[in-house]
Amino acid sequence: VNSSTVACIVVAAGRGERLGAGRPKAFVEVGGRTPLEHVARTVALHTAIDHLVVVVPADLVGEARRMLDHAGLSERDGLTSTVVAGGDTRQASVAHGLTALADSDDIVLVHDAARCLMPGQVYERVVEAIRSGHSAAIPVLPVVDTMKRVSDGAVVGTVDRSELRVVQTPQGFRRGVLFAGHEAAIRRGDDAVTDDAGLVERLGIPVHVVDGDDRGLKITRPFDLAVAGALAVDPDVSAGLVDDEATS
Ligand code: C5P
Repeated sequence: VNSSTVACIVVAAGRGERLGAGRPKAFVEVGGRTPLEHVARTVALHTAIDHLVVVVPADLVGEARRMLDHAGLSERDGLTSTVVAGGDTRQASVAHGLTALADSDDIVLVHDAARCLMPGQVYERVVEAIRSGHSAAIPVLPVVDTMKRVSDGAVVGTVDRSELRVVQTPQGFRRGVLFAGHEAAIRRGDDAVTDDAGLVERLGIPVHVVDGDDRGLKITRPFDLAVAGALAVDPDVSAGLVDDEATS
């Protein structure tokens, strides 16, 4: 038995209202598979994670369990999975996931099911950062667009984008640090924080950054679903491997 294990909490308990698909977005198909199936397969086949904790709406716990049992999880020894019901906010759903950790889960990743095409290398980069001594690590991307601050319909300033980053998940933590961040939030009365690293930053703990990946886009609106659907069918498109001349 491994004395120190890595868990990944996947939050999938959102209602997905902005997607307009009529059901929770973790259960809307993206290129023939649900986001939960994509995440489960990535974790099972392309990472060394030991424990997958999936957080879904209470009425979908049974369906999620069945889905995981058919998602290729059994293809890797040493991976266990747990399904728990979520809460009213993302923060509450993560907190429910924390209650399902095993005692040996020393490194904990928190991942949005909505970023279901994030490749396994990014999970591994985050785990490696924690193993190498960082208490918290998050995947980030550079900002490619010009950023402006706007108020009352007019520009009030241009932001220097060179110091900005777009934040993705999975975010990784030493277990105690993540618990401390969530406990401090509850003491402050915060109950709807959407960024786990932010909770840890508030404790004054440094958060390390690693390279994210465009394929980890968050499926939020119908446009994102269309993009992700195309990527899921042909991941090479997003990996930049497609020969422009061959496709034009
Ligand atoms: O709603 P939003 O896109 O910010 O959700 C981010 C992630 O958090 C999604 O994967 C969603 O399923 C999850 N979530 C949750 N419980 C909630 C709200 C959101 O697990 N109550």
